Amino acid sequence: MDFPVFHLDFLGNRYLIAGIAILHVLINHGLAVGMMPLIAAMEWYGHKKQDPRWDKLAYKILFVCFLITTTVGALTGVGIWFSVSLVNPYSIASLIRVFFWAWFTEWLVFVTEVCLILAYTLTWKKWTAQGPESKKRHIRLGFALAFASWVTMAIIVAILGFMMDPGNWLTVNSFWTGVMNPLYIPQLAFRTPLAATMAGIIAMFLILFFTKKQDQFRNDALRAVGLWTLAFAPFVLVAGWWYYTSVPDAMKDNLGVSLGTLEFVDWQTKFLQIAVITVVTILLVVQFAISRPKLLPKVALVVPFVAILWMTGHFERVREFIRKPYVIGQYMYANGLRVEDYALLQRDGVLTYATYSNPLTEAEKAELPNGLSEPERTARLEAIQKGKDVFMNTCTRCHTGHGVNSITGHLQRMFGDQPWTPELTAGYIESMHYAQPYMPPFPGNKAELQLLGTYLQHLQQNKAPIPGAQSVGVIVSGAAAARSPEMTNQTEAAVQ
Ligand code: HEC
Repeated sequence: MDFPVFHLDFLGNRYLIAGIAILHVLINHGLAVGMMPLIAAMEWYGHKKQDPRWDKLAYKILFVCFLITTTVGALTGVGIWFSVSLVNPYSIASLIRVFFWAWFTEWLVFVTEVCLILAYTLTWKKWTAQGPESKKRHIRLGFALAFASWVTMAIIVAILGFMMDPGNWLTVNSFWTGVMNPLYIPQLAFRTPLAATMAGIIAMFLILFFTKKQDQFRNDALRAVGLWTLAFAPFVLVAGWWYYTSVPDAMKDNLGVSLGTLEFVDWQTKFLQIAVITVVTILLVVQFAISRPKLLPKVALVVPFVAILWMTGHFERVREFIRKPYVIGQYMYANGLRVEDYALLQRDGVLTYATYSNPLTEAEKAELPNGLSEPERTARLEAIQKGKDVFMNTCTRCHTGHGVNSITGHLQRMFGDQPWTPELTAGYIESMHYAQPYMPPFPGNKAELQLLGTYLQHLQQNKAPIPGAQSVGVIVSGAAAARSPEMTNQTEAAVQ
């Protein structure tokens, strides 16, 4: 609560991160981590067979990857930093404290990777023309690039695993216990062959554009890349299973909601069936491309291409969701509040420690109950203002007012058109973490529960969008802002 609340009332903050991050993962895995070794292998194979057609194909695929990874790939990578710092500065701050040196190393490796891909792409033609010695050197450059791409992923996956389950770090706060969290190695073992298979499928799709229909080489290329894809597929399945069995059970309980939404929990079995069918379809089409390339209608290759992107995107979404109610397992809730601060907050109230207040717009002040006297009106608006601050600080990392996953939508479904009085809603909110374990417990005190209730009742009538600090600014709340460090320590000591 030391930062103004960034909020997108229609889309929701989660989707801002999810949209950018998923696009980034697809590009990173499919076009960098998995594709660079494949391209280097194609170049090596062409050199070995003295067949320039492989060389040309590899270069064309590289050029596509080069364009996309250095533009959209790099921008979405930076975009993840921007979006997570806006939406949940607390979690990124904690992660930076634990993983500073990992990110520093990551930055060095990333810069190396960018230099290598520039060098690899730009020297391709010249070094090829210079003869076999230069060509060999160029191929080595390709494999070095492949290695650097993998290392960037390998570092980040440690942090992703940590966010799901920090393991022993919760008792021993050291860098290495954080890195060696229980999900790190299984997740890395899963993502590595996944990236290779993805790259294979994407390359098969690109081969259609870079070879001619009647050309026998198209079939040779499809067959070879198809074999590459199938060779990694069993590892994806085995490591996927290992990863799945390493995920704590509490997270698996969230799977149903994560795949769809609350209303679609029953859809889970259907989804799993769809997933199995998708995997089988991918494997069949690839298998067909290998064994009967002439019979395979070329559009059929669109199917595995779309399917693998869809599956991987969905996997990321699920992975992000199931660690809820935490953003960092057992340590920090998704609302940005640390588990160990809860006792203090529930006693003193979150507003006591909120540095900023989120001013009501004129539109948000409308639709008050009829017939209020002026003092009643003022008191009411004051309660609504405080209730809004509670809502902004404790619910908006996951809920909007009226948009996606809106609080009003949920209340409408639960309580219908009857007035959503604090008596009605407060009881639910107080125990919402039992009703839906992916929600954190309410962090405020009893008075704030009533204020939040008053605000939610107001939202039943008032449909105005709830602006974030980025559009209406904030009011610095005097009491919290004036707190001195000594006072904070005393209060915390008193609670403990
Ligand atoms: C960690 C994210 C998160 C936070 C923080 C959070 N919620 Fe939720 N809440 C959810 C999700 C996810 C759902 C289910 C959405 C769906 O249908 O898929 C949900 C559902 C609900 C529902 C409907 C539950 C039901 O049983 O049908 C209510 C009511 C609700 N939230 C209120 C709140 C309130 C009030 C706050 C703030 C005090 C809050 N939530 C904070 C994630 C969160």
